[in-house]
Amino acid sequence: MLNIVGLCGSLRAASYNRMLMRLAESLMPASMKLQPLEWRDVPVFDADVFAKGFPPAVASLREQVRKADGLLFVTPEYNFSIPGGLKNVIDWLSRGEDQPFAGKPAAILTASPGPVGGARVQYDLRKVLLFVNAMTLIKPEVFVGNVASKFNADGQCTDETTRKFVGAQMAAFEQWIGAVKRMAAPA
Ligand SMILES: Cc1cc2nc3c(=O)[nH]c(=O)nc-3n(C[C@H](O)[C@H](O)[C@H](O)COP(=O)(O)O)c2cc1C
Repeated sequence: MLNIVGLCGSLRAASYNRMLMRLAESLMPASMKLQPLEWRDVPVFDADVFAKGFPPAVASLREQVRKADGLLFVTPEYNFSIPGGLKNVIDWLSRGEDQPFAGKPAAILTASPGPVGGARVQYDLRKVLLFVNAMTLIKPEVFVGNVASKFNADGQCTDETTRKFVGAQMAAFEQWIGAVKRMAAPA
């Protein structure tokens, strides 16, 4: 089984991005299993705190990301970029010689009630993931625009095109994880 951990950029109970993460989970190939990560208790990064050690919420996330075969980012766009809470989580996990993003396969999905579906945050997130040496899947990209018209009140996706793109991305992510593992394996 491939253990995939999911980071949702929104904490909102009725988050569309959380609905999108659940949709991705439901369309994953049988070899993949999703574990959503909780980051509500992560404090704002402070180098003086870091100098004394990782806070428990950060230490737990580091461990879960380290053990994962892949990392799924599902996030809204805030002011054309990465929501501060999610960026703060990445900043914490990026610290330490043994930071857990290095070499980790990742995939990105974004959703917004606006027309472009968070296109701008995707490229900012890709740039940040480059710095931490994550191996981010390039295509298919998933931007869910006008998201409020694509999920019903029960959080189910009613849009066939969205289901198709998300399913295709999950299939590509499974292949990508295999390719990254083969690349990392000793010859
Ligand atoms: C601080 C803030 C900034 C936002 N900036 C953008 C933005 O730049 N682009 C966009 O498409 N939507 C923006 N929005 C609207 C969000 O896309 C919308 O609130 C969305 O539903 C949040 O995702 P969620 O449903 O997963 O919580 C912003 C929302 C907030 C709270």
